[in-house]
Amino acid sequence: MSEMIFAASTQRTIGVVIASVVAVGFLVYLLFNFRIGKREIGSEIEVAANRKPHSDDDELETKKLDSHLGWSLVTLAAISIILPLYWLMEPARQENADYGWVKRFEKRGAAEYEEACAGCHGPGGVGGVTSFTLTDSEGSFVAQVDWKAPALTTVLSRFDESEVTHILNYGRGGSPMPAWGLPGGGPLTEQQIHQLVVYLRSIQLDQEEVINEVNSGLTTGARILVKHANPDFSDEQIDAAVEAWLIEASNPDSENYLAYGELLFNNSAAQGANSCARCHTPGFSYGAVDAESTEELLTEWPKLVESGVLNGWEPGKGAVGPSLYGVNSHFPTPGDQESFIHSGSELGVSYGNARSGTGGMPGFGGRVDDDLTDRETGASVTYSQIYTPEQIAAIVAYERSLG
Ligand code: HEC
Ligand code: HEC
Repeated sequence: MSEMIFAASTQRTIGVVIASVVAVGFLVYLLFNFRIGKREIGSEIEVAANRKPHSDDDELETKKLDSHLGWSLVTLAAISIILPLYWLMEPARQENADYGWVKRFEKRGAAEYEEACAGCHGPGGVGGVTSFTLTDSEGSFVAQVDWKAPALTTVLSRFDESEVTHILNYGRGGSPMPAWGLPGGGPLTEQQIHQLVVYLRSIQLDQEEVINEVNSGLTTGARILVKHANPDFSDEQIDAAVEAWLIEASNPDSENYLAYGELLFNNSAAQGANSCARCHTPGFSYGAVDAESTEELLTEWPKLVESGVLNGWEPGKGAVGPSLYGVNSHFPTPGDQESFIHSGSELGVSYGNARSGTGGMPGFGGRVDDDLTDRETGASVTYSQIYTPEQIAAIVAYERSLG
């Protein structure tokens, strides 16, 4: 990288030197010309240039010719050195210009992010929470809730850039995520939205970090189950039991396999960014994360039930995404459903039993972006896988058990 920047700046230096030599030379030429011109005005002391006898053949064919040929050789040599140098340096210069462009976008996107997004999505996109007023269909107050804003550090694993751009342009109706782009009535131009997307590229987690994040959510969920079943366990006993539970439950033959799928479905890490429940379970994003917490929420805000905004703990009953009850009839085999969850939906592309996608369903099996190339390897950019094929199979088993 430093080599290329060096190449580009050497080229610039050479350019500047040549330009200054030419400029100074031209000035000197003008100066002399004026002085000679001045001396001549009104005088014919010397014979006019066109009346002067020119050099004779002897001189023309020897000294003059040699000097002209000599100078031709010098200029030819200069051109033959500079031209290949230009061709050698031009690709590096172009690449640096492209890279500089991306870096500038990223920097501006980072500044915009700090200003417009960090308040909800946290510094660097780690996720956060925001207060939100729920209203009924007539717009009357129903409840004041804390709504989780998902981490954005895996968003490009789940959505492609056009889908993220769509979310940024139009926001998410019914949630605190406002429309930001001009097409959705927001304040940001197309270029500013693009800068935000370029910034998001720079904060995506690598594969190991995603695995750790997913596991931390699993561990949190399993800990609650284990604690509940073994109220007398010490902290160390619980740690060991949680580890053992996760290994045992991830086996498709285990009687805890569906509970394992449920934990993945409800994964709490990164403010639910990698969960399914935030889009498929009513109220999950604002605290209805299990039967107990839903009950508390409904007690605190009785209008939730009265208005029909939240009717109780109904896992998979639909929120941003559709209800998953009866999903088995849309996907004849678990395998079809698994591959859908692996890559998500695409605008206008049908899935399952010929339902049409909007691009709103994220993919969880990782993503390759063919429009972007890695600067170092030259290969297409890849984004980390969130769930392994085995984990997706467990989630699907749980979903298909919902009814
Ligand atoms: C007022 C709080 C708030 C602000 C400000 C905000 N967001 Fe959001 N955003 C949310 C919430 C809440 C969600 C999740 C909505 C849901 O539950 O479906 C969300 C969802 C998203 C998503 C979809 C993520 C996913 O995985 O589903 C993206 C992308 C996003 N926001 C980017 C941004 C960017 C970029 C900005 C700044 C221009 C921004 N948001 C500003 C609250 C906010
Ligand atoms: C950001 C919100 C969001 C998240 C997170 C999400 N989904 Fe979806 N899901 C949707 C939307 C929206 C659709 C409808 C398809 C479309 O609009 O393209 C959908 C559709 C589906 C369908 C097809 C339902 C049908 O009958 O048409 C299944 C199955 C599904 N999602 C499962 C999951 C699973 C499993 C997860 C977690 C691994 C998950 N979803 C995470 C938004 C989401």
